[in-house]
Amino acid sequence: MAKVKTSFFCQNCGAESPKWVGKCASCNEWNTYVEEVIDRPKSATPFSSSSSQRASKAHSLNEIEKKIERRIELKDVELNRVLGGGMVPGSLILFGGEPGIGKSTLLLQMAIQETDKKILYISGEESEQQIKMRADRIGIGNDNCFVLTETSMQNVFLQIEAVEPDILIIDSVQTMHSQNIESSPGSISQIRECTAELLRYAKESGTPVFLVGHITKEGSLAGPKVLEHMVDTVLVFEGDRNHVYRIIRSVKNRFGSTNELGIYEMHGAGLRVVENPSEILLSNNEENLSGISIASTLEGIRPIMVEVQALVSTAAYGTPQRSSTGYDLRRLNMLLAVLEKRCGFKLGAKDVFLNIAGGIKVNDPAIDLAVVCAIMSSNANIPINKKISLSAEISLSGEIKPVNRMDQRISEAQKLGMEQIIISKYNKGIHQKDFEIEIVKVGKIEDAIRAIFG
Ligand code: TYD
Ligand code: MG
Repeated sequence: MAKVKTSFFCQNCGAESPKWVGKCASCNEWNTYVEEVIDRPKSATPFSSSSSQRASKAHSLNEIEKKIERRIELKDVELNRVLGGGMVPGSLILFGGEPGIGKSTLLLQMAIQETDKKILYISGEESEQQIKMRADRIGIGNDNCFVLTETSMQNVFLQIEAVEPDILIIDSVQTMHSQNIESSPGSISQIRECTAELLRYAKESGTPVFLVGHITKEGSLAGPKVLEHMVDTVLVFEGDRNHVYRIIRSVKNRFGSTNELGIYEMHGAGLRVVENPSEILLSNNEENLSGISIASTLEGIRPIMVEVQALVSTAAYGTPQRSSTGYDLRRLNMLLAVLEKRCGFKLGAKDVFLNIAGGIKVNDPAIDLAVVCAIMSSNANIPINKKISLSAEISLSGEIKPVNRMDQRISEAQKLGMEQIIISKYNKGIHQKDFEIEIVKVGKIEDAIRAIFG
């Protein structure tokens, strides 16, 4: 009997080693190596190509004819936009997200909405009954949406031949297994093999394929970095499970920009597109409370107004606490140090808590000024006028730095009825006459504080 060939694979990053090792040399994780069978029979898959026999010739770029790019438009406008204006035929789209965030809901909802396309939804996680119940919750009828509970790739391909779908959805890649390879479902070699088979199917038939992938608790797509290299587009669904907002981001896109994002709201009956996120993220309380400021930020290339909430209080115990939700804690510590050193505010003995409303995470540096002003407002217990918005970065020297796409941020603030926006005086090309909202340009934190609190 021929000897079975095996190798060891890191289940975290996909690195291969001929022998077992305790610590992965490429991702430094411990105890992640698992032995997997790599010897596979010849002529295994229905989509294997004999490319070695095809003569290929290189062409100069000018010789290559430009084909009109065809896009398959989806009814879900947000998904369309994140994909760069619809799906490209034959593309493989990886859709990642934490468990329970709503991946299955979003894809099933998309499948039901597309009444004019034949969709095959393969689930390896839920029974057909469960999917039916979920579909009833979302509540639109569709005869063209086919559902199958299956985990074997070979059976999936048989059904694909029978149904001939326009769009294929696989939920999830970690539950699928191919008979061409002997390791267990969810292992690196299985995931890689199943994805490779689906990739060949997508490219040869021109059918777009959605592939759901789980995310590990560290936030990377479970197991395989390898997967990200194989697919055309990587979308990540994120959000705080205790809040209703979900954001879909494009991390990689061979056919469009990665700056776009889509925003949804989770309801009892599925996910609803949020057309104007700023209006919901700003709370509508009538009272003017201290410790609240409004920042004009950008998510990708979309302007969004967010509410920053701060609470500064005298530390009850020896070591003051600093806690931040939705904003980088190290950056908060840095801003507190700038306030202490450059502006002389004694915050060293105070507890500081920071929260971004709506459960969203903001990485845009333009929120810095709003964070500082919310802290100052809470510290002095003086509310900030709710018609003032802020948009600027703060440097270590306490200077107010300019940020990109300023005109978009100002327009968004104006659209939401703000009366004043405070920006850096180093922002070029911004003229008061182009806007109705009053633009206040400042160079230092002290100037901003004076502009707000008088
Ligand atoms: P699900 O799509 O199963 O998540 P994933 O596939 O990413 O693991 O989403 C499950 C969550 O969504 C669950 O906690 C219930 C909630 N949900 C709603 O709030 N409304 C709905 O209409 C549906 C179908 C789910
Ligand atoms: Mg699911």
